Amino acid sequence: MATNLRTPSFASSSSTSTDTDDEGVRGTCEDASMCKRFAVSIGYWHDPYIQHFVRLSKERKAPEINRGYFARVHGVDQLIKAFLRKTECQCQILNLGAGMDTTFWRLKDEDLLPSKYFEVDFPMIVTRKLHSIKVKPFLSQPIIELHADDTLQIDGHFLDSKRYAIVGADLRDLPELEEKLKKCNINPQLPTLLITECVLVYMTPEQSANLLKWAANSFETAMFINYEQVNMDDRFGQIMIENLRRRQCDLAGVETCKSLESQKERLLSNGWETASAVDMMEVYSKLPQAEVSRIESLEFLDEMELLEQLMQHYCLCWATKGGNELGLKEIVY
Ligand SMILES: C[S@@+](CC[C@H](N)C(=O)[O-])C[C@H]1O[C@@H](n2cnc3c(N)ncnc32)[C@H](O)[C@@H]1O
Repeated sequence: MATNLRTPSFASSSSTSTDTDDEGVRGTCEDASMCKRFAVSIGYWHDPYIQHFVRLSKERKAPEINRGYFARVHGVDQLIKAFLRKTECQCQILNLGAGMDTTFWRLKDEDLLPSKYFEVDFPMIVTRKLHSIKVKPFLSQPIIELHADDTLQIDGHFLDSKRYAIVGADLRDLPELEEKLKKCNINPQLPTLLITECVLVYMTPEQSANLLKWAANSFETAMFINYEQVNMDDRFGQIMIENLRRRQCDLAGVETCKSLESQKERLLSNGWETASAVDMMEVYSKLPQAEVSRIESLEFLDEMELLEQLMQHYCLCWATKGGNELGLKEIVY
C-alpha cells in the first residue's frame, strides 16, 4: 500500500520474490557496499551517505581492495559527470543493479542532479534500501525537498518522487522492468545514462545482451556505462571465479569478460553505435597525481604487483547511441 514518506512509521513489507537461487547474487550488494563504506571510513573518498545504508565491516579490507574501489568509484563518477556536462543535466540516469549506491545524494550535494534519477534492484534489496531511506531523515530529506507535491508514491519495494525513483524488479524480466519504469514516468525522449556497476556478469550472456538491446531500443539518445571483470581467462581470473562460486555466487556472464574487445563487441552487437573500454590499471594511471599521492599515503601497500593484477581484471566500458549534437561520442576517459 502506498504511504507518505513524511510519515515516519515504517510498516515492514515482505518482498514478493521467493527465489532463493539469486541469494548469492543479492549478497554481492552487501559486499560492494561494505567495501565502499570501509574505504570511505579511512578517507579514500568523501561519502557521508554510505554509512546510513551499511554497517562498518569488522575486518579491515586489504589496501589493494580499497584502492580498487577508489578507482572504480572515481572512474564511474568521471563518466557520469562527463554525460551530465554534455547534457547540461537535462537528462535522466538509470542505475541498474544499484544496490546501496549513493550517487543520487552525492550529485545533489554538487548541484549536478539530472532531471530524474532512477534506481533498480531486486525487490528484496530495494526493500532494505527503502527502509534506510524512510527511517533516516538525512537520506529522505533530499528526496522530500525536491518533491513539490504532498504525496510521495512509496511502498515496500517502490518509491516514486519528482527527482528520484527506486523500483524493485528483476533485470532479466524486461517487460516487468519496462512497466515499472513507465509507472515512474521514465521519458524515452530524454537523453539517458544507464549504469551497470558490477551487475551484468551475474546474468547469462543472453540475458545481458537482451538488457543492452532493450536499453538501446528504448532511448533515442543514450550512454551506457558498464564496470565489471575482464581478462578472466587467465589463472587469476579462474581463482576469482572459484572464490565466488564457493560463496554460492556464479559469474554466469563471465564468457563476455574475456577481454576489452569482447566487452566492446557485446555493446556494438546489441544496438550501441560506439563502444570504448579501458582496464582499471589505465584508469588508475590516469588519476590526478595529487589524488594518487593522497590515497597512497593512507595505507602502506607492499605488493604493487597485486594491485596491478587486480586492476587488470576489472574494466570500465561505455557506449553511446545518438546524441551527435550533444557530443556524446566525444566522451573519453
Ligand atoms: C556487486 S553488486 C553492485 C551494487 C552497486 N552497483 C555498486 O556497485 O555498489 C550487484 C548488484 O546487482 C544486483 N543485481 C544483480 N542481478 C540482478 C537482477 N537480475 N535484477 C536486479 N538486480 C540485480 C544485485 O542485487 C546487487 O545489488
